[in-house]
Amino acid sequence: MEKFRIRGGRRLVGEVRISGSKNAALPCLAATLLTSEPVTLPGLPRVRDIVTMERVLAALGESCEHVNGATRAVAGRSGAFHAPYELVRTMRASVLVLGPLLARRHRARVALPGGCAIGARPVDFHLEALARLGADLRIESGDVVAEAPRGLCGSDIVFPRITVTGTENLLMAAVLSRGRTILRNCALEPEVEDLARMLAAMGARINGIGTSTLEVEGVESLRGADHNVIPDRIEAGTYVIAAVLAGSGVTVSRCRPVHLAALLTVLGEAGVTFSVRADAIDVPEQEVRPRAASLETAEYPGFATDLQAQFLTLATQAMGTSSITEAIFENRFQHVLELKRLGASIAVEGPTAHVHGPTHLDGTTVMASDLRASASLVLAGLVAGGETVVDRIYHLDRGYEAMEVKLNALGAQVERFNPGPYL
Ligand code: EPZ
Repeated sequence: MEKFRIRGGRRLVGEVRISGSKNAALPCLAATLLTSEPVTLPGLPRVRDIVTMERVLAALGESCEHVNGATRAVAGRSGAFHAPYELVRTMRASVLVLGPLLARRHRARVALPGGCAIGARPVDFHLEALARLGADLRIESGDVVAEAPRGLCGSDIVFPRITVTGTENLLMAAVLSRGRTILRNCALEPEVEDLARMLAAMGARINGIGTSTLEVEGVESLRGADHNVIPDRIEAGTYVIAAVLAGSGVTVSRCRPVHLAALLTVLGEAGVTFSVRADAIDVPEQEVRPRAASLETAEYPGFATDLQAQFLTLATQAMGTSSITEAIFENRFQHVLELKRLGASIAVEGPTAHVHGPTHLDGTTVMASDLRASASLVLAGLVAGGETVVDRIYHLDRGYEAMEVKLNALGAQVERFNPGPYL
């Protein structure tokens, strides 16, 4: 099982280029099921979740070629409709094939995603809304079995709680449904907007893109398209935090600063100095430690839950006691115990972590538990004394493209190694 060995105390200098957004690429790849024509997606990040989604699509009869850095997907006229458990269990976002399969093939069999480290993460909102579009749904041997023999029919749907992939699944179902669908209380995440723009380029008729109410007029069929996904705002935020923690002049480029407004606001309030350009964020060496901050994660445009763990690591080095409240998931403090092994002083009370800083961190072995928790441990290793070994970095590889390559290019010392089959 691969690990990272990180030598702490190295300063980061230079430019890091952000990859395409994993969480935009996943729904866009699922949307390729909505047409028989080729869809080209340049610049998708080479991360495990993308590879998994391409394998799910292959199981559904789709071909995915990689030509000159672009993914060319052709669903063709396959009638396959079963997304197998072996693949879905490794990535819950596989549930995103449910909507497009129902919309175009009128049936789907998708393994129910299990829980994961950060919470139960049910998909009840997805299923209830698809039933409103006329799908017959049942659970059979751990699979969602969905059928709509006469196709889907538009409806007025209100999500009981904002759900990112729920919004994306239903948007993909609605574009080929008969008549009008109104989706209310939609997620505003940039990745949802990016999917909507790709669907529109394929010929879908969507009003309200970028707002919480999406009105869709169903069409008979969709054409292929070429679509560049947006930069990964969570990767960008992770490197901005790395630059604040250990940087002596770092530029985070090829990103969309506007997608990071909540993080940048909190950093500004904490006294962090940085400047913003159209597609880059410049972080000079910090002359003083950041002040402690208090924040609560929220749906976009609020503070992203996917940056909570990384910010918590920064809070261990801030002056004072920070209060960080996780309001989206019920169990997203897995990284806290590992950070305490490094010497962090953190007290968790219900959904809030109280982080006392600054604390000296001493390198040791820590274990990643989920994608963003593993990023927070790598960030801690950059500033911890001595050597930090982060185990189970397969979690990291799900959503960060070549993280050790990008960090070492900035001057870090991160070694990826595999101690052998029994460790
Ligand atoms: C998306 O997950 C992201 N994944 C997550 O990123 C991100 O943390 C999350 O949105 C919140 O921003 C992708 O886009 C592939 P939700 P999603 O549905 O859609 C509850 C990462 O690190 N809920 O918005 O699964 C749910 O349990 C990943 O890249 C229901 O109860 O999240 C959660 O508490 C981690 N029933 C809340 O709503 C449902 O049917 C928000 O979940 C759906 C959701």
